Amino acid sequence: MRSKQVFKGNFFHAPTYGKAEYLEETLITVNKRGIIESVLSQSSSDYQAVLAEAKASNLLVDFGDKFVLPGFIDLHIHAPQWPQAGVALDEPLNVWLDECTFPLEARYSDLEFAKKVYSDLVRQLLNRGTTTAVYFATQHLESSIELAKISAQLGQRAFVGKVAMDNPEQTHDYYRDESSEQAIADTEAFIVRVRELAKNVTQGVYPVVTPRFVPSCTDETLRGLGILAHKYDAYVQTHCSEGQWEHGYVLDRYGKRDADVLADFGLVNDKSIMDHCNFVNDHDGELFAEHGAAIAHCPISNAYFANGVLPVNRLKKQGVKVGLGTDISGGFSPSLYDNIKQTVISSRMLTDGVDVTIEQEKRGVSDSRVSVLEAFYLATCGGGEALSLPVGLFKEGQIFDAQVLDPNQPANSLPGFDIYTEPFSRLAKLLYLSTPANITEVWVQGNKVKNPKEI
Ligand code: GUN
Ligand code: FE
Repeated sequence: MRSKQVFKGNFFHAPTYGKAEYLEETLITVNKRGIIESVLSQSSSDYQAVLAEAKASNLLVDFGDKFVLPGFIDLHIHAPQWPQAGVALDEPLNVWLDECTFPLEARYSDLEFAKKVYSDLVRQLLNRGTTTAVYFATQHLESSIELAKISAQLGQRAFVGKVAMDNPEQTHDYYRDESSEQAIADTEAFIVRVRELAKNVTQGVYPVVTPRFVPSCTDETLRGLGILAHKYDAYVQTHCSEGQWEHGYVLDRYGKRDADVLADFGLVNDKSIMDHCNFVNDHDGELFAEHGAAIAHCPISNAYFANGVLPVNRLKKQGVKVGLGTDISGGFSPSLYDNIKQTVISSRMLTDGVDVTIEQEKRGVSDSRVSVLEAFYLATCGGGEALSLPVGLFKEGQIFDAQVLDPNQPANSLPGFDIYTEPFSRLAKLLYLSTPANITEVWVQGNKVKNPKEI
């Protein structure tokens, strides 16, 4: 059993959308279960006593003059597509699935191949400060279990889905669930086995009911998965209104929008993550807000596959929970830092030209800009809200997940750090300019997961 620990450092977090806080030379005490018990500023009356006691009993972890951010949460990533990252980005979604992605995913019937890819991916994500990930695995039961085991072993908090895909019209003989019965039975077996595995995993590993998207599933499967999600009170993830082809396909098949179809099958609830959602309208937003469903915003992938931008601010105003996802390999980058930046950049493409005075030349949508602090919130608290987990903040009662950043690493020393001493300028620099070289330590639930540099 680990003892209670005391962390000392310069912490940044974002308690509200658009507002960050800087906790300088602060002490954070963490209990044996990795939960924050207290956050003590230098002005606190207990500060000196707690510091002295922690030093005396060898429980102090001092991050010195480095900076500490909450661990990032990747709300949507396809683990089996990792080998394909950075290639095949120029095809439309349906062609990309048929010609590139399904043939690659079919290879995960080979457990050895799966182990090799998955352990590399989990390490590389930890390396980049991703302490929680919500994964799509593949259609295969055994290798999907393997992904859950590997993330559990390497110390990452993982939400994993065995992908259900049984519609013969939108899948291939070489890669699909044999029948709706099998898709449902394997999903149930997956839930039971991952829950068993989770009993020994401090940081948590969770099964996720995962219909790939409406086109790849039959009605029987969608209905059966909705029933399972309810029976096991399980998380759900699926692609929703991602791109024009897919959105149009659902309208043709049901005469309804994705959000309504998924809700009819019982797949929209307060543990559901709806991926992408570029084509959602106000009605869909209301439906998500009402049911407590969250959206995984994947800005890099959306630029390539949907040629689109999620209207983040509009949805947040409607009360929809939003976090960030990499969507490897629809998005080429495994880094949430890159997706934070792209969230900001994409939102600038959506917004109106605030300084355009000629009426005819105005374009875009007002109030669409997402600031870097807002994007930081999405990558931390936004993900925590989506998963209904107390992660993303350095606050009493929250889980201690952290990444330690050194702006002075020789491989990537951040320019002007000694000139721009105002804390939020420094935070912006850390978010815009850090690379894995700057992330010297990563902690999940009070456990130091492998030092990324040793990986
Ligand atoms: N829709 C169905 N499958 C996929 C996938 O693997 N990636 C993306 N981006 N969209 C999908
Ligand atoms: Fe995806």
